[in-house]
Amino acid sequence: MASLALSSLILLSLLQILRCLSAANISVGSSLSTTSDNSSWLSPSGDFAFGFRHLNNSDLFLLAIWFNNIPEETIVWYADGDNPAPRGSKVVLTTDGLSLKDPRGQTIWSASPSTRVADEAAMLDTGNFVLIGNGSNYVWQSFENPRDTILPTQRLDLGSMVVSKVTEANFSKGRFELHFTNGSLVLNPVAWPTRFNYKPYYNSNTYSVNSSESGHQLVFNESADIYIVKANGEIVQLPSGNELLNPRADYYFRATLDFDGVFTEYARAKNPDDNQGWRPLRVVPENMCLAMFHDIGRGGCGFNSYCSIENRNFSCDCPPGYVFVDPNNRFSDCRPTFRQGCGGDDASRDPEELYEIRELNNVNWPLGDYERLEPYNQTMCEKNCLHDCSCAVAIFDGAGCWKKKLPLSNGRSIATGFSKVLFKVRKGNSPDFAANSGGNKGISPLLGALLLGGSVFFNFLLLVAFCLIVFVLPKRKYGNYNFQDSSNSESNLRFFTYNELNEATDDFKEELGRDVLVNEDEIAMADKCRLQKWLMVAIWCIQEDPSKRPTMKTVLNMLEGYLEVPEPPCLSSFSIAVES
Ligand SMILES: *[C@@H]1O[C@H](CO)[C@@H](O)[C@H](O)[C@H]1NC(C)=O
Ligand SMILES: *[C@@H]1O[C@H](CO)[C@@H](O)[C@H](O)[C@H]1NC(C)=O
Ligand SMILES: *[C@@H]1O[C@H](CO)[C@@H](O)[C@H](O)[C@H]1NC(C)=O
Ligand SMILES: *[C@@H]1O[C@H](CO)[C@@H](O)[C@H](O)[C@H]1NC(C)=O
Ligand SMILES: *[C@@H]1O[C@H](CO)[C@@H](O)[C@H](O)[C@H]1NC(C)=O
Ligand SMILES: *[C@@H]1O[C@H](CO)[C@@H](O)[C@H](O)[C@H]1NC(C)=O
Ligand SMILES: *[C@@H]1O[C@H](CO)[C@@H](O)[C@H](O)[C@H]1NC(C)=O
Ligand SMILES: *[C@@H]1O[C@H](CO)[C@@H](O)[C@H](O)[C@H]1NC(C)=O
Ligand SMILES: *[C@@H]1O[C@H](CO)[C@@H](O)[C@H](O)[C@H]1NC(C)=O
Ligand SMILES: *[C@@H]1O[C@H](CO)[C@@H](O)[C@H](O)[C@H]1NC(C)=O
Repeated sequence: MASLALSSLILLSLLQILRCLSAANISVGSSLSTTSDNSSWLSPSGDFAFGFRHLNNSDLFLLAIWFNNIPEETIVWYADGDNPAPRGSKVVLTTDGLSLKDPRGQTIWSASPSTRVADEAAMLDTGNFVLIGNGSNYVWQSFENPRDTILPTQRLDLGSMVVSKVTEANFSKGRFELHFTNGSLVLNPVAWPTRFNYKPYYNSNTYSVNSSESGHQLVFNESADIYIVKANGEIVQLPSGNELLNPRADYYFRATLDFDGVFTEYARAKNPDDNQGWRPLRVVPENMCLAMFHDIGRGGCGFNSYCSIENRNFSCDCPPGYVFVDPNNRFSDCRPTFRQGCGGDDASRDPEELYEIRELNNVNWPLGDYERLEPYNQTMCEKNCLHDCSCAVAIFDGAGCWKKKLPLSNGRSIATGFSKVLFKVRKGNSPDFAANSGGNKGISPLLGALLLGGSVFFNFLLLVAFCLIVFVLPKRKYGNYNFQDSSNSESNLRFFTYNELNEATDDFKEELGRDVLVNEDEIAMADKCRLQKWLMVAIWCIQEDPSKRPTMKTVLNMLEGYLEVPEPPCLSSFSIAVES
């Protein structure tokens, strides 16, 4: 009897162990949260994990799939890179699919099989996360919803898209898209934030009017080859790499549309101690600098930047006197560190005293010339550019002089040919934007004298704002509004003022955004900035509710730049007044 009890006990434990061993799959009701210590579901081999990844320098998390057995823990899929999940979020598996809920229980992302029911889920050893339903069919797969990366055994059907990240650490949708839609593999730059597709910089040209001869599937096969299969079974290889890694089983592979726009197949030794990391095996296109060439848009690098390539490694640099708009992102635009143009006092001074020419060799911005002077020599070319307010750069090709304005696009290094790029930069220690922000020191005594009392100041600003509208912004439409014939004049005037101020503020914001790249005359920019700030302060000061109006001290601090000027609220009560 005792032995029977003992054996059933052993049997039970054995069953328990067996269940544990095979319980790699995730059952309905399971969940992961950002707050639990080990928040991931592993594939049977442990190669891949599904779960939350903390984003650097933030309290946000990415629901993701990553290589789990290497120190890099490279992410290969993510639910929604544009809207990472806040701390306290949770992902739950229900029969309706996967749903990601924020701490308040709102669904912020979901994977729902359209008609079928999910019975369980599994993180597979291929890196594919699947929802299983209707017997053992996959009713949803991460492989069918790729982000920036594809993996061996993954196939892209017609209509698929892969989107690059913004930067290495920013998982929002970036500047490049891979489309496999019309029989061909195509890479497009996109205009952020609208995602308008510019002309492709790579096209596999595997489209055919005869559908059986047209591209049908993009295959990343088990032995890490990437190719296009036509409907008739024919295989078309992508431009191939030259490095052979053997044995293949010792390596992990992935192909990523990198944030620089290059579609790259990488390999990494499975041995976590191998310190070579991910090595590129093949790159499409092979020369990004040559491939990216469009009459509109940035080209391979940002505006005012230029592209160079070494060992298939492509990088971007800023010309002399220019720096990256985002110092941490080499693919961002470049901006001049000095004032351009002839604004301010410059008009009365000799441009040759203010500016000098710096030379750059073997680089060209082939598009965007606005003037060609020929025959001309280099001295004349330089002089001409120095004296021309619009000229930012002149290219001297030995016989002629090609003048260009900002922003420059499609810049790239060129191997041969006689051409000198002549950059016009400000002499001496060119003042930078930041260094010059204290330029409005003069206003405080004036303001101080005007600040007599709360209501006086309020009326004064109202008057100033009104004068501004009538005299400074005469181009605006005033509609049918009759200033004289207004019974309820103060409040109507205030409403009118508010609307005008608001519109003017928006216009200025837009204009300022554009000015940064061209680096409009610094003084003009500073004036615009100040004007915009004054407009916003004025809106605050004409709030109907006096308790909302800022105190004198606050106003002073805002005008002096010690305090940020917050977005002013809408004057809602006035909207009613105007509609009636
Ligand atoms: C887990 O899912 C895989 C993939 O569908 C399936 O082959 C396997 O039988 C499942 N395992 C269990 C224990 O249900
Ligand atoms: C989760 O934690 C348990 C113990 O708390 C540990 O045994 C297990 O290996 C952990 N799993 C992962 C994926 O880290
Ligand atoms: C369920 O699976 C069977 C094959 O296993 C398939 O024929 C059928 O279409 C599936 N049903 C749905 C709703 O997908
Ligand atoms: C976070 O920062 C570390 C160290 O700076 C870096 O190695 C890692 O790649 C970063 N993670 C992401 C997701 O960018
Ligand atoms: C990521 O890039 C997008 C687009 O440029 C930007 O709007 C967003 O603020 C960035 N996110 C982070 C965390 O920097
Ligand atoms: C597919 O590509 C071909 C060749 O580039 C083009 O002529 C055709 O119009 C495209 N078809 C569609 C539906 O985009
Ligand atoms: C399409 O191509 C196949 C071969 O791949 C050929 O047999 C067939 O005749 C072609 N059809 C037409 C309409 O040309
Ligand atoms: C992958 O494709 C290559 C051809 O490009 C072929 O030689 C190889 O056998 C394929 N491997 C598998 C596992 O299908
Ligand atoms: C490519 O550039 C990166 C970063 O600049 C560098 O670490 C790497 O060694 C370069 N690779 C080659 C082949 O030049
Ligand atoms: C360039 O041309 C100007 C006017 O044609 C001439 O005076 C000057 O000497 C030339 N300079 C050189 C270096 O040839």
